[in-house]
Amino acid sequence: MKAILACAAIAAVAVGCVMAGGQETGALQPTEPRVAKVQNLMAGIQEPGMLLLQRSVRGAGPQSDDDWGAVTMNAALMNEIGFMLVQNERAKDAVWTKAATDLRAASAAFHAASEKKDLAAMRAELPKLSASCQECHTVHRK
Ligand code: HEC
Repeated sequence: MKAILACAAIAAVAVGCVMAGGQETGALQPTEPRVAKVQNLMAGIQEPGMLLLQRSVRGAGPQSDDDWGAVTMNAALMNEIGFMLVQNERAKDAVWTKAATDLRAASAAFHAASEKKDLAAMRAELPKLSASCQECHTVHRK
């Protein structure tokens, strides 16, 4: 509130107040540079995540709480990548943006199914998740 009043009183330094507010909350500017390459996100998170999710729907599915926890965690991380793919000027075109949107939807649905330990729903979502990878790779993976 103090910051808002200060900004209202001294219009000339309003921009400075906004910046100071950003620093208070630790909020990032949308284009602040990030060092992770798309290849890092793929090799480090998407590939091991996908392998774990594929294994998780085999047979009787995950058994222990730890196994279920690993599945929901990986689905959540893959979902997070769906956001990172359209941040930091990573998005290349409409195909990319649509694939990332589909990745977010499928990974969120898989995540919700795994939280309910609903193996049938997980099996139904996995092909949609895989299709979202292919959508982007067909055009953008060298
Ligand atoms: C919006 C685009 C996009 C989506 C969605 C996407 N990828 Fe990728 N992926 C790429 C690009 C671009 C590359 C090539 C990166 C490079 O080599 O510079 C790549 C490369 C890869 C690689 C090779 C990494 C390496 O070691 O070189 C794997 C594995 C991979 N993706 C897995 C996945 C999986 C699994 C999914 C879905 C769960 C997925 N990707 C979804 C864009 C995407």
